[in-house]
Amino acid sequence: MSRNKLLAGNWKMHKTRAEASEFFRSFTKLVGNMADVTRSVEVAFGVPATLFDVCVNAAGAGVKILAQNVHYEKQGAFTGELSTVMLQDAGLQGSIIGHSERRQYFAETDQAVGKKWNALSLSSLLPVVCVGETKAEREAGETNIVVKKQFELALAEVSADAKAKDFVIAYEPVWAIGTGLTATPEQAEEVHLMIRGLLTTHFGAARAETVRILYGGSMSAANCAELLKKPNIDGGLVGGASLKPEDFSKMVLTAKG
Ligand code: 13P
Repeated sequence: MSRNKLLAGNWKMHKTRAEASEFFRSFTKLVGNMADVTRSVEVAFGVPATLFDVCVNAAGAGVKILAQNVHYEKQGAFTGELSTVMLQDAGLQGSIIGHSERRQYFAETDQAVGKKWNALSLSSLLPVVCVGETKAEREAGETNIVVKKQFELALAEVSADAKAKDFVIAYEPVWAIGTGLTATPEQAEEVHLMIRGLLTTHFGAARAETVRILYGGSMSAANCAELLKKPNIDGGLVGGASLKPEDFSKMVLTAKG
């Protein structure tokens, strides 16, 4: 089963509107024929809400623009939040959910992640569901237990109808995020294989083969080729290196092969 690779940038809390426009001016030039590239590798960017319209208009053919968070209710008294209806209205294709920074700084729980997954899927938006262990958890030998728990507690909130929709898992070991420390291709593949097993358990073997599992954590133009060679690493969720058009365009072209 061949899965189209997905290279997704996560811009976190970076860039003004002028900087975003400038990024896409260089990025589209460096990538070349965007429509051709995005036929074989999917390209996406998770961006701040102030950049939604700029990115939707500037990103180029086939490039998906995602939010970095979403609320699971469609509307209501939730000051500061955005709903799936609003993301769709802004022309977005999905959202990153459960990023470790949101879990750590904004007390996002596995249950909340699951409700967001459910809401996105029911709106036919793409959920990019992040999981990953801390350094202490890895050192205690608990990586698989932690990732399995995050995945299964979230999945418990997802309805049968929502489960039928496409989703992406991003394995992001917390100790590798923004640290310059990357999981080795072997370390990452081991966890990705375990996640593939979880997908098989919950979705059956045929469906499990279709789900993209991204690696995230200091992925760069220098190390992405080795990571992307692994059979269960279907792309990347890229922080720092996605802010630079030179680096991210190289990564996209590497993923294209
Ligand atoms: P870095 O690539 O900067 O380590 O960030 C990874 C990440 O958190 C992507 O969501």
